[in-house]
Amino acid sequence: MASEEPLAVVTCTAPVNIAVIKYWGKRDEELVLPINSSLSVTLHQDQLKTTTTAAISKDFTKDRVWLNGREEDVGQPRLQACLQEIRRLARKRRNAWDGDLPPSSLSCKVHVASVNNFPTAAGLASSAAGYACLAYTLARVYGVESDLSEVARRGSGSACRSLYGGFVEWQMGEQADGKDSIARQVAPESHWPELRVLILVVSAEKKLTGSTVGMQASVKTSPLLRFRAESVVPARMAEMTRCIQERDFRGFAQLTMQDSNQFHATCLDTFPPISYLSQVSWRIIQLVHRFNAHHGDTKVAYTFDAGPNAVIFTLEDTVAEFVAAVRHTFPPGSNGDTFLKGLQVRPAPLPAELEAALAMEPTPGGIKYIIATQVGPGPQILDDPCTHLLGPDGLPKLAA
Ligand code: DP6
Repeated sequence: MASEEPLAVVTCTAPVNIAVIKYWGKRDEELVLPINSSLSVTLHQDQLKTTTTAAISKDFTKDRVWLNGREEDVGQPRLQACLQEIRRLARKRRNAWDGDLPPSSLSCKVHVASVNNFPTAAGLASSAAGYACLAYTLARVYGVESDLSEVARRGSGSACRSLYGGFVEWQMGEQADGKDSIARQVAPESHWPELRVLILVVSAEKKLTGSTVGMQASVKTSPLLRFRAESVVPARMAEMTRCIQERDFRGFAQLTMQDSNQFHATCLDTFPPISYLSQVSWRIIQLVHRFNAHHGDTKVAYTFDAGPNAVIFTLEDTVAEFVAAVRHTFPPGSNGDTFLKGLQVRPAPLPAELEAALAMEPTPGGIKYIIATQVGPGPQILDDPCTHLLGPDGLPKLAA
């Protein structure tokens, strides 16, 4: 147990991101270098975030990590890769600047505690926010100011995109050492204020293939994935950037759906095939297309990652009606009043013509709940010491 105050303690938060041009496949497993560039939207931390505290002290005898109050194995390769990389950058900085850091800090062991403000059981991707937060917090505690893409990426590829708010691209880069494989902001969070995001949390129906294993299998066996990476994604990155810059919702929405569909097609093209979408996911796809067809315009888009949950993009003026359509198609169970979490959405009736156009047989309980959110900022430092997850003894304040 530590006898003195930790040498330094920092607490930061980081957001979840959802890709609209998907990352799937690595060209280098060790460095986590992708076979194509990707582009994502950073979600608001009021609804979804990871909070991480890192403390360094000469009293600590080993590196230790707690996730949601439970101690984890610090020997996990990805955690080790992040720790080694941040210490390498800290050493580099100290050598270059002749050090305004206490000389002992680099040899100090670190304690890290991390929590999510959303249920991990919901099956929402938490590794991106988690590793982005780890990279950002370690950088602050070790006094590193350089680009953190590599640190976050070595934890989980998609994590480098959670280092920025707004709309973010991860440029695949060309170099073998990955130095040019970095995340960059395409537009800030204030750029498109009308954009809304709904996360439709679907009951998990089966065990998933993890992203890392899934993409390894796809790279090995799917000719469609190679075609996608070489011949489809480069033009899509440019087109998606244009749609975002011009706030072209129709273009943004169509490309988002097409790219999600192509990603899931590469999963089916993997041998043996991988399937992440459930029956409920497919019904959501049908609902979105019928909703758009009724309006004669693309008013709503879906995207799915390596699981059955849908992420919906729409504009402020369409949210209430779309939520009414979801409630109609997937009547909530006993949680009718807590079905919608996050941003307020004013209750709206479902117009009879829309109900008729949807022509969907209701699937009660198919969607567990909805989280309504919007585009948000990147990682933040919390100044209030009350927010530290580690006490003065360097141990978590809250046990599991
Ligand atoms: C489908 O970043 O979780 O969500 O780098 O192996 O940790 P690793 O994979 P991860 O993959 C995310 C894949 C995706 C699409 C995306 O976010 O771009």
